[in-house]
Amino acid sequence: MTTSPVLTALRNATARSHAALEQHLAVASDGATRTDYLHYLEDMHGWLRAFEQALWDAEWPNELQAPARAGKLAWIEQDLNSAGMSRSEIGALPASVFAPDLSSEASRFGLAYVIEGAQLGTKQLRQRLDQALDGWEPRWLEGYGEQNGERWRGFLHALAGHVHTPQEISAACDAAAAGFDSLAGWFEQRRGERAELAMVK
Ligand code: HEM
Repeated sequence: MTTSPVLTALRNATARSHAALEQHLAVASDGATRTDYLHYLEDMHGWLRAFEQALWDAEWPNELQAPARAGKLAWIEQDLNSAGMSRSEIGALPASVFAPDLSSEASRFGLAYVIEGAQLGTKQLRQRLDQALDGWEPRWLEGYGEQNGERWRGFLHALAGHVHTPQEISAACDAAAAGFDSLAGWFEQRRGERAELAMVK
């Protein structure tokens, strides 16, 4: 599959943010622990919770199969639950106030690129965390499982078909960049809150 102009633009707009995320996230570092992974999940949960439902409930072309992409919070909840958190503890986790611009199809595609793309790194993350997870196969790291490649190609196909004018591409890039910025800010906020809590204890 050739790379569409919108995908090239999205990669250019977000590559630096992705690299910075990987650099700062404890879970992506050598020697990451199970606790680092659980903190990562809690924070992804808090970020996604602010908008997952609104994003996938919005209008999408049928070919994107939005309903099949809409359950990632549930995967994370499954993991937090199997790590010992009760439903009410999960419900009480801090949530971000990110309110993305979902007003145009292009901006929705831009944000969805961030979420769907996040599944691509899970295999590598799974390998890095192998020892720390000690046999635990978390749902979030499984992603779409056997269908990971197919789902990503389906996403790219719909993206290329629906986001092509310069204005649309620019709106998608703004939305993806805003997604990465808000996630990085949220991770930083949560890191600070955990450090403060550790000092109080
Ligand atoms: C936690 C540590 C992470 C690691 C180790 C990681 C690693 C990776 C890797 C290896 C790829 C390329 C996979 C491939 O081309 O087959 C990738 C792609 C991507 N990741 Fe991550 N990632 C991480 C977190 C995230 C997060 C939190 C997000 C956003 C929520 C994200 C968004 C993306 C996107 C959008 C792409 C697609 C890039 C493209 O091909 O256009 N990643 N990641």
